[in-house]
Amino acid sequence: MAEALTKSAARNVFYGGSFFFFAIFVGLTTHSHYYMNTSSTDVSTLSDSVARGKHVWEKNSCINCHSILGEGAYFAPELGNVWDRWGGKEDPAGARETLKAWMAAQPTGIEGRRQMPQFNLTDQELNDLADFLEWTSRIKTQNWPPNKAG
Ligand code: HEC
Repeated sequence: MAEALTKSAARNVFYGGSFFFFAIFVGLTTHSHYYMNTSSTDVSTLSDSVARGKHVWEKNSCINCHSILGEGAYFAPELGNVWDRWGGKEDPAGARETLKAWMAAQPTGIEGRRQMPQFNLTDQELNDLADFLEWTSRIKTQNWPPNKAG
């Protein structure tokens, strides 16, 4: 056995190690994509209105105050599961109406409560937003967030 690490051995460790972990990285990334498309989300229900709803979400920067599936700001409630919180699983039409009423009622002006701006969204935008939040609520997040309040 060599007494010291030779230059070429060090180079082999470097290239070999880099290649080995790069291969693991590519494998895990591929697996994550595969898992997202086949297990954690339902691609078959990913409609145009869900995509439009996501654009409403992005265009109005809801994420500046809210988080969605943990991603975003922590000023306002998590919205990945707001559809479930509002009973959308049992009564989707009711949750849709609740969302519209909520958006129309902002800002509430209630003293001591954090305020949400009025976005003046059209009925179409509200329906798209509802479709987006409903679809998002069905993503299998491996039980995240840990409680209903998000
Ligand atoms: C400036 C910060 C801010 C922005 C931007 C914002 N919100 Fe809010 N939102 C709030 C706050 C604060 C609350 C909680 C208000 C309360 O409880 O009285 C809230 C609550 C909500 C709720 C009810 C959550 C629950 O669990 O009761 C929904 C739904 C919601 N927002 C949707 C949206 C959507 C959709 C957008 C983008 C179009 C948006 N918000 C943008 C601040 C914001």
